[in-house]
Amino acid sequence: MAEPTTSITVIGATGLIGRQLVPLLRDAGHNVTAASRDSGVDLLTGQGLDDALADAEVIVDVINSATPEDSAEAFFHQTAANLSAAAAKAGVRHYVVLSIVGADEMALKAGYIRGKLAQEGAAATSGVPWTVVRATQFHELAEPITESLIAADEVHAPAALIQPIDSSEVTAILARVAVNEPLNTIHNVGGPQKMPFSDMARAVLRHQSRTLNVLDDPSATYSGLNIDYTTLVTDDEAELGTTRLVDWLARR
Ligand SMILES: NC(=O)c1ccc[n+]([C@@H]2O[C@H](COP(=O)([O-])OP(=O)(O)OC[C@H]3O[C@@H](n4cnc5c(N)ncnc54)[C@H](OP(=O)(O)O)[C@@H]3O)[C@@H](O)[C@H]2O)c1
Repeated sequence: MAEPTTSITVIGATGLIGRQLVPLLRDAGHNVTAASRDSGVDLLTGQGLDDALADAEVIVDVINSATPEDSAEAFFHQTAANLSAAAAKAGVRHYVVLSIVGADEMALKAGYIRGKLAQEGAAATSGVPWTVVRATQFHELAEPITESLIAADEVHAPAALIQPIDSSEVTAILARVAVNEPLNTIHNVGGPQKMPFSDMARAVLRHQSRTLNVLDDPSATYSGLNIDYTTLVTDDEAELGTTRLVDWLARR
């Protein structure tokens, strides 16, 4: 039986996740309003927001900040405050936010992550039933992360695990969550394999046909963050994707 049609506004519709989510929801028969500055909706100023939410039963916030670390925190605070107020006013019945696994543990160390917690908190305190989906790092980040770990022709890998996931699998989970009943809690999702950063780097280098030395370096950081061994990986309750990083790299 076909799913009932739901009116869904996707904020951040032109981004990596948004541009996959909009067609997926439309193909499933839903009425989708695709919102971003491209379509005249600026979540930072609130411009165009009330119109974008006029018919919305569900909103999915997959916005991202392109600004440097310090202002990313303010960006998420302001955009989430605007969205939660508009969602409550519009009578939205499900408010979905995409966030990051390990956000609590990293919040003290990074403005971007404190912004993500503010974005989650705005949904949870909006008065609108909500779900936060926290995902691990997308496969798309494996190459840029590896590149960022290279110094003097060696890869300095943090002594920690990472659990990359296919962004299309995150998108499919978001699409399902959006049309289901609100969970009013956090739903964690991760890739099928937890691996040391050094193994991820080796997989990337093999894919790129490069032969650099890879070191497990206890002083190495992830984007400037000192992370614990398990900060970036899910617990046993999480929903897991199925596409392994090596298969995703090979398919590109
Ligand atoms: N990368 C990862 O591994 C990872 C893992 C877990 C969770 N996440 C989270 O996933 C979310 C989505 O990431 P993504 O990679 O899809 O982001 P992205 O590709 O950077 O896309 C960001 C979107 O936000 C929109 N946007 C930016 N400023 C806006 C504004 N002021 N008003 C309205 N729209 C605005 C952009 O469109 P315009 O520029 O046209 O406005 C674009 O559609 C992020 O919040 C990120 O924290 C990422």
